[in-house]
Amino acid sequence: MKKITFVLAATVVASLAGITACKKKTVTETVYVDNTPPPGPPSLYTRLGGVSAITLVTDKFINNCATNSFIGPRFAATASDPNRLRVFRFNLIDQICAGSGGPCQYKGVTMLQAHQGMNITNAEFDTLVGQLVKAMTFYNVPASEQNELATILLPMRSDIVGH
Ligand code: HEM
Repeated sequence: MKKITFVLAATVVASLAGITACKKKTVTETVYVDNTPPPGPPSLYTRLGGVSAITLVTDKFINNCATNSFIGPRFAATASDPNRLRVFRFNLIDQICAGSGGPCQYKGVTMLQAHQGMNITNAEFDTLVGQLVKAMTFYNVPASEQNELATILLPMRSDIVGH
């Protein structure tokens, strides 16, 4: 009898310990204590290679546009004024960086304001996007990332064309 009571008591203690252990497990949670981004797929910004890769692509893109026979004349005044070119370049880098989920902030004017009075056509817009694609291809940006960036820029068409 003494032995049975002991076994019973031992079983109760063991199962209580088990319950306590179970309870401890269920209160485990992830707490973010710094700016570590939550786990998930890397942003387009990261997949493009960050601001240094975006800068390389942007410089190639600007050069492609300025030397293109169809839209080049549009950029003649910008290309010949170092200060204007510097501001345009930084604004474009910030725009692509911010648009792809990077830590930059676009500080330029809206797309509607920037292209107001230029009467840009759809053909010119498509040619400019083509120059960006050419720049990304030159730096071996994969097709999926190229398409993602184009998808971010294409909705700007209505603010840029025909004003
Ligand atoms: C997705 C398409 C486009 C994007 C993302 C874009 C972006 C920009 C940005 C960020 C600026 C600078 C705004 C500022 O300084 O505050 C700008 C200015 C300008 N854009 Fe565009 N643009 C696009 C299409 C075009 C097209 C199709 C043309 C002409 C063919 C064009 C010609 C210009 C010119 C001439 C300026 C003025 C540059 C200067 O300040 O000297 N853009 N654009």
